[in-house]
Amino acid sequence: MPTKAIKRSPRVKPGQREEETLRVLISHQRIRERVRHMAEEIRHDFPNEPIHLVGVLKGSVLFLADLARELGGEVSFDFISVSSYGKGMDSTGEVKMNKDLDVSIEGRSVLVVEDILDTGLTLKYLLVLFEERKPKHLRVAVLLDKVERRIADVKADYTGFVIPNEFVVGYGLDYDERYRNLPDVCVVRLGPRGKTKIEA
Ligand code: IMP
Repeated sequence: MPTKAIKRSPRVKPGQREEETLRVLISHQRIRERVRHMAEEIRHDFPNEPIHLVGVLKGSVLFLADLARELGGEVSFDFISVSSYGKGMDSTGEVKMNKDLDVSIEGRSVLVVEDILDTGLTLKYLLVLFEERKPKHLRVAVLLDKVERRIADVKADYTGFVIPNEFVVGYGLDYDERYRNLPDVCVVRLGPRGKTKIEA
């Protein structure tokens, strides 16, 4: 028996729940253009150098995949997984490693690839950890930067977009593991009064 097609508004994104609304903040096209420019900046600084990308799971996966393709030249990659602990949405600064790198970074030109810089506590933890391992160079590329929220004294060497203090999903970023597959970066709002995850 043929299944009945479910009619949904074309503005409803795949995987979107009824109580959630999504607004596009940065379109996929803008992301792709910016990632291309970031790759040019990075290659300008490291023209003939093999670059070892270190992606922070899971949010950086799509950004790393696009950046790696735009970089050209010799590129390798590895991944690390960390979680930061806190009450609700506020991080306490306690960061725990879930999965370490597979290979040594000693003597390599390392580019840490992060989806978003929020308090900066995760990046601070990673930079301290990686510095001890004596890479030749240690640089950071982030797609998004919520400058207003910064607690730790860190900044990226290459930044895609500075964004306001809103909870965003898409292009690798999640809300409860959902929305990572959206091509755009969107602001997610919850509940009838349209509060953001941050205000809720
Ligand atoms: P930080 O340690 O506070 O800088 O947090 C970094 C991590 O928090 C990111 O790698 C994300 O996983 C997560 N995060 C922070 N803000 C957002 C957001 O707006 N959407 C989704 N994840 C976020």
